[in-house]
Amino acid sequence: MRPEKFLLEKYLGKYEFSAPHLLCTSDCQTMSVSELLSLEAGADKKFMDLGLGYTEPDGLKELREEISDLYENISPEETITFAGAEEGIFVFMNAALSAGDHIIVQFPAYQSLYEIAISIGCEVTLWEMNEEDGWRPDPGFLEQNIKSNTRAIILNSPHNPTGFNFSKEDLEYIVNIAGENDLLLFSDEVYRMLEFDPEKRLPAVADIYEKGFSLGVMSKAFGLAGLRSGWIATRHQATLEEISSFKNYTTICTSAPSEYLATIALRNRGHIIDRNLGIIRKNLALLDSFFENHYDLFEWVRPVAGSIGFVKLKDCQSSESFCRRAVDESGVLLLPSFVYEFGDSHFRIGFGREDMVDSLVRFEEFIDKNLKTIF
Ligand SMILES: Cc1ncc(COP(=O)(O)O)c(C=O)c1O
Repeated sequence: MRPEKFLLEKYLGKYEFSAPHLLCTSDCQTMSVSELLSLEAGADKKFMDLGLGYTEPDGLKELREEISDLYENISPEETITFAGAEEGIFVFMNAALSAGDHIIVQFPAYQSLYEIAISIGCEVTLWEMNEEDGWRPDPGFLEQNIKSNTRAIILNSPHNPTGFNFSKEDLEYIVNIAGENDLLLFSDEVYRMLEFDPEKRLPAVADIYEKGFSLGVMSKAFGLAGLRSGWIATRHQATLEEISSFKNYTTICTSAPSEYLATIALRNRGHIIDRNLGIIRKNLALLDSFFENHYDLFEWVRPVAGSIGFVKLKDCQSSESFCRRAVDESGVLLLPSFVYEFGDSHFRIGFGREDMVDSLVRFEEFIDKNLKTIF
């Protein structure tokens, strides 16, 4: 069976490269190749001398060393690289799941986290998050919904689109449930390292659970989505071998220039993440006062991590028509909740980029001008 259309990617694809004011993107501020290379003496010469042959199927050795350094208990051999996180999700689902398996997926979700499993023939239960509880899903739901054919739990924390992050206690509870029921635990951690309070950073699932899989990528916290460089870390050798074999049918190996550049970025991660968290903190302060000024129009559950949040429209008929008007009439791109198959009352806002301040000004102008016809 083929996966259904990817609603979010279709919507973004339509507007992202034409709308002048992007106010919903999830990737942080990017940088040029020369900016990145300037972070390390001699890197520009090495980059120009790089061979463009095939690379190692599981990833460049130096890159896997840097990736393993992000974890407490993961060796380079317990990592595998992909063309973005998207390939990691696709390959994991195909390698680890079979038709008839049941999985439980935190919801709303980045669509591939459930759609690929559905296309394989899996039975999918959505684990809904509660807006009234700061988007925390009820942990008790898991035990009530595990069945004899349940094979995996799929998490995303920090979360797209709400900016929710599990507490350490909740994560521990989920890991225990997975362990007691011998389940795989796939954790999409692509927004990790963007916790506003570093104390709130969760342990990586791959570090604390033997059947855990941590998904990471250069796109979000590092702002390097154009590298298409992602990875999975896991200590579960049998599934890792399946994943590695399946990758032979997707990309075989990833791009040599990207793997080199990703290695440089990971080696200099302190600098890049500090810069991006600085942008996020500045933007969040602007959003706080914006939502305070417009409390009659919007409900804003302040994110605790990441570069995006999910805003509820009060007394507005349709977030889709609201967002379409914003982009068509003012060039301000927001992401309506229908792309998450999550009703028609919310939209995603993004705050990881330097030009957010200008986009917010345009958005405010759009609202002021159209107040009577929208709300
Ligand atoms: C939660 C989540 N997982 C995976 C991805 C895919 O990441 P990439 O574009 O780097 O493949 C995204 C992108 O938006 C995401 O938000």
